[in-house]
Amino acid sequence: MVHMTDKYQGFVSTPIGKLLVKNLGLPNPTRLERYKAGDPLVKGTVLVGGRGRLAESLPGLLDVLGVTSTTAQADGERYKGLVFDASGITSVEELVELQQFFTPLMRSLESCARIVVIGTPPALVEGSERIAQRALEGFTRSLGKEIGKGGTVQLVYVAEGYEDSVLSTLGFLLSPKSAYVSGQVVRIGAHDEQHGSALADWTAPLAGKVAFVTGASRGIGEEIARVLHRDGATVVGLDVPQAASDLQKVMKEIDGDWLTLDITSVDAPQRIAHHLKEKHGGVDIVVHNAGVTMDKKLANQNPERFGKVLEINLAAPEKITAELLEQGVVNANGRIIGVASIAGIAGNLGQTSYAASKAGVIGLVDSLSEKLSDGITVNAVAPGFIITQMTAAVPFATREVGQRLNAMSQGGLPVDVAETIAWYASPASTAVNGNVVRVCGQMMLGA
Ligand SMILES: NC(=O)c1ccc[n+]([C@@H]2O[C@H](COP(=O)([O-])OP(=O)(O)OC[C@H]3O[C@@H](n4cnc5c(N)ncnc54)[C@H](O)[C@@H]3O)[C@@H](O)[C@H]2O)c1
Repeated sequence: MVHMTDKYQGFVSTPIGKLLVKNLGLPNPTRLERYKAGDPLVKGTVLVGGRGRLAESLPGLLDVLGVTSTTAQADGERYKGLVFDASGITSVEELVELQQFFTPLMRSLESCARIVVIGTPPALVEGSERIAQRALEGFTRSLGKEIGKGGTVQLVYVAEGYEDSVLSTLGFLLSPKSAYVSGQVVRIGAHDEQHGSALADWTAPLAGKVAFVTGASRGIGEEIARVLHRDGATVVGLDVPQAASDLQKVMKEIDGDWLTLDITSVDAPQRIAHHLKEKHGGVDIVVHNAGVTMDKKLANQNPERFGKVLEINLAAPEKITAELLEQGVVNANGRIIGVASIAGIAGNLGQTSYAASKAGVIGLVDSLSEKLSDGITVNAVAPGFIITQMTAAVPFATREVGQRLNAMSQGGLPVDVAETIAWYASPASTAVNGNVVRVCGQMMLGA
């Protein structure tokens, strides 16, 4: 306990901590809207603006998603979403178009509004265009901190030739499914093969797919399993033998299958591959969710604890992924999804091993994203403060800090992480590869 108090006191004396304390007296944070099965993706109108490669096709794409859109701003009209195509901006001078479009609209937004700016990946263009496109990041990340009322702002960089591949991403970022995702940069394209972006049924995008989820008996993993099942997948949940009864309970509720083993056991990769191949004919979606923390300042650390965290959170996902790929168990257009953490981006006191393991998960994405073929993608989520049994046990003051230090002034829910994973998992997300999206309410740490 003394340790936690010190941690908190140390924290509040930092600039960010002071800012936080000043803000603790704020009124209740906005109640975030969340998606319910059967709801339309967007409850309201989306205004489309800008000029670029996607401007003309955007209304048609939104129509496919069942989203009502308009390109003509009407006086007194309120909008649930704004999509601005900034891919036509090729110089710094033209960036003022952002201000001209958004300023008159900022007071015409409904609560939990969604803003998406579309650009061209800076790395794929040169000179003034590259500079101007890179500038978009600062614009969207700042607007994310200004929008308020549960609103979110994202930047989507779409490579040339991948204009039609934005569908699943727009569906996610414009809907309440992305309730706790803000200030993010998503990259679409630069994947060798396109396995199509069309989907027959946007309400059951994962119909016929097999999803494998580790650590599925509780917390975030349980919610991932439930959301993937809601989207039509057959879920195979895994957890340690001690969690067998909880795991079975969850899996029975969602007509899933289960496997109890420790992912760090020597034969785990083989047993998992065998099970998925023999019982399910392969796997379409692999979610490496199982993870642990064993926090200790490095001065007090021992090799066993330090190594154990790395083994569970990083070495096991690496080995299991390699085995599944080598044996051809991952089907074409398959999805490999890692669960990193804000700690892996910003670092955190007492978490040298945990943060190393989670930064390594990002490394796993980087190491594989350009090597995979057959439409298989690899991406990760990096959750911030998500309210689970684990975080409920955190002392009050530290929990308050974790929950308020973001643009939404609240913690996220396991479903927010699960929805982000379901977006990666969609068969229409083939061009979404090599991304690490934070599910953190735009937390101020490591931004
Ligand atoms: N809760 C948060 O705020 C938060 C934030 C960032 C990242 N994460 C990450 O999200 C993931 C899920 O977190 P959670 O909060 O639901 O945690 P949790 O402790 O509630 O669930 C983790 C699950 O993984 C299982 N597991 C642990 N070691 C295992 C092993 N060796 N083999 C098989 N299964 C094993 C556990 O039995 C448990 O069911 C973790 O990777 C965690 O690091 C959580």
